[in-house]
Order: sequence, then structure tokens, then C-alpha cells
Amino acid sequence: MKIEGSDPDRADGVCVFKCLLNRDTECCRVGKESVLITLGYSSALLKFESHADLSAFSNTLKSCRNEKKESSVFSQRTEEASAVQYFQFYGCISQQQNMMQDFVRTATYHRAILQNHIDFRDKIVLDVGCGSGILSFFAVQAGARRVYAVEASSVAQYAEMLVKNNHLSDKIIVLPGKIEDISLPEAIDVIVSEPMGYMLFNERMLESYLHSKKWLKANGMMFPTFSDIHLAPFSDEQLYMEHYSRANFWHQQCFYGVNLSSLRGAAVDEYFRQPIVDTFDVRILMARTVKYTVNFMDAEEADLHRVEIPFVFQMTQSGLIHGLAFWFDVAFVGSVVTVWLSTAPTEPLTHWYQVRCLLHTPLFAKEGETLSGKVLFIANRRQSYDIHIVALVNQTGFRSGNILDLKNPFFRFA
Ligand SMILES: C[S@@+](CC[C@H](N)C(=O)[O-])C[C@H]1O[C@@H](n2cnc3c(N)ncnc32)[C@H](O)[C@@H]1O
Repeated sequence: MKIEGSDPDRADGVCVFKCLLNRDTECCRVGKESVLITLGYSSALLKFESHADLSAFSNTLKSCRNEKKESSVFSQRTEEASAVQYFQFYGCISQQQNMMQDFVRTATYHRAILQNHIDFRDKIVLDVGCGSGILSFFAVQAGARRVYAVEASSVAQYAEMLVKNNHLSDKIIVLPGKIEDISLPEAIDVIVSEPMGYMLFNERMLESYLHSKKWLKANGMMFPTFSDIHLAPFSDEQLYMEHYSRANFWHQQCFYGVNLSSLRGAAVDEYFRQPIVDTFDVRILMARTVKYTVNFMDAEEADLHRVEIPFVFQMTQSGLIHGLAFWFDVAFVGSVVTVWLSTAPTEPLTHWYQVRCLLHTPLFAKEGETLSGKVLFIANRRQSYDIHIVALVNQTGFRSGNILDLKNPFFRFA
């Protein structure tokens, strides 16, 4: 660190230094809002006016030291191009609005936090991926003492504007940056976040949510607390034929005089790799669901690198099984009440819809027979998953399966 000069003593006795920080700068916390910085034989004690200033300073110091590149869990597991596109998307006000206007989502978070106000009263809260800051505002409404609102996209600046304009700068501290990279000045009582993507796992933000537990006190709480992913076999001849028909474009032998047919196989493969995002009538489901739980209190980031969901379905009707349907619920387990946010096809529609994965070849099964197999989610560096499905009708020995790319879903809803 090079001290370029110092202001004359101010009336309040505080010296203002202009500092050049570099990677060799040593930094250690002294008391609540001071740090001692040292480079070689020079050192200075910096006292900050607020937690926000202290956090901003230590985050700047971190980036000066280039720690992000060397140690960020996020950058290790994410392709640069994917991250850039992802945070550009969330940097748009319109995308934040889209989520905020999902009434089921936003109203359920509001209810979960306010009905469990005793878990927030006078507490230190962390909002992971705060976006507009909406959940931070809910936490303050529930009585939080202070909220650290961490946001990696440029929408952080708008969250800061809302905080200022709502006169809550003393309560909500917006920290621009990734949760994996930032520092907090104190331990946290409650972590709130909305990290769920399509099929729960898409975006891999759940890992960032789990990562943030490094700031959580031993008796701290997570809102949401756990999630159930549900799956069930479905029959939908129309959907299956529709996918084939999309690929039939490539069946043409004279498209402006060009024979396209050699690519039909590749087109079918590509379309079948797409999970389908839409909703459906529950009568297409052919068995009771199988449930897989991710408990955010216990799970670690690495648990989500490979998620294996074995299943055995007892068929409740006979017919052709065209694939597996998925949806999820999350639960907010508070001291007063447990609140559920459900994306089930029996519940009001959310912006997550439901997701269906087709089998390459439909399987015939009779009522009472069993369909067994597994779904394997393998995380990739594009902030998503490759989904491997294998399925077997036990009584006939017929097998089918598919490999799908969750990063590239087909949005089929009207
Ligand atoms: C689904 S949105 C939720 C926004 C807001 N909490 C709400 O409920 O409306 C997720 C937000 O988390 C941010 N985000 C994702 N990963 C993050 C990370 N590792 N660190 C900080 N922010 C992240 C995104 O930029 C996005 O704004």
C-alpha cells in the first residue's frame, strides 16, 4: 500500500488517507468497525463510519489482491461466457419485475417471512442474490435489525436506489458482488434467498445459497429450509408427435433445391435433448409421484454436483409412457409456521411452470406394473445440468431412456 498523502486533521480528528492497495497489503479487523492495514513496515488503522463502508473496503481489497480469480468457488465451476450472460439477464429491471410479478412466488415469500416475524425480529439477515432487494425489504418489515443484500448483477445499483428512497440505508446494506467473493463484517442469524431455477436445479444458484452458510451462526435459519422435487411418468402422445414433427423440417429433399434429409436424425436428437417447460392436466400422470428432498440446512455444495434420484413407480393406469414430469416445492420452516411454495400442476401456475423430459422411445405398461430406474443430474460449467434418465418396465423388460440438456429447454407454454 502506498500512502500518497494525508489531509490536514479534520475537526473530528479523523485523518483521510488516499491509499493505493495492492496484493501484498495485509489487512486485519480491529474491533467492530476498524481495520489495521499493513504493507512491509508501514501500517495504518482505518476506522469506518458504518458496516457498509467496512464491507465495501474489504471487498475492494479482495479484488485488488485478485483473490476472486484465484479462489472463487463460483468462477471455478462456471464458464466465463455463461456467467456474463447470466448476470446480464438478471441485470435487467424487466427480469426482476417478471419475478416480482409472479404473485404466488412473491406473496408466499412475504407470508413466510412476516408470519414468522419472531425469527427475524432484531436479527441479522443475509439476502443471497437480492435482485431488486424485495426479500430484504420483507425481512425489515418483519423486524430485522440489519440485512446484508448481496447481488452480483448490475441490478445491485437499483436495489441501492430503492433502499435509499425507502429511507432504509441504516438497515439494508447492499453489497455488490458474488456471495462466493464478498466479505461480511458479522455472522448471520437468517439467510433468505430465492435460488430456484427450472426443475429446481437449473442455474446452479442453490450452490451459492448453500455456500452462504459459511456466514450462518450455528443456530441460524435458512429461508427456504428444504425443497422436494417430485417426478411422475406421463402419457402425452401429442407432445411426443409434436417433437418429431418439429424435426420433420429436415426431412425435406428439395428445400430451395437442397436435400436436408441427412440432418433429420441430428434434429430429432437435438429436440429430444430439450426438457419441455409448460403445464399440463394432471390426468396425464400415470403413477403417484416419487419425491426427492434437498435439505438446505444439511446439504453441502458438492452434494449438488451429482444428484441421483432412483425411482420405482407403481402404474395406476395402462398406456404408453412418453416421459417423466417434474416439479418442486420449497418449505419455509419457521418458529411459528411452515409455509410451502409449490410449483405442482395441481396448484396455481408460477413462472417455473412444470418440466417434462421425453423418453426416446415410449414404453408400454399396464396398470399395476412397475416402472423402475433413475434420473441422474450431472452439473456442468454452464450453470446447469445434463440429465440422464433410464427406465425399465420390470414385468416386460422393456427399457428406454434419454439424455437431456437443462440449459436449453423448450418453452412450450402459450
Ligand atoms: C431468482 S433471482 C431472485 C431475486 C430476488 N431475491 C427476488 O426474490 O426477487 C436471483 C438473483 O440472484 C443473483 N445471483 C445469482 N447468483 C449469485 C451469486 N453467486 N452471488 C450473488 N448474486 C447472485 C442474480 O443476479 C439474481 O438477481
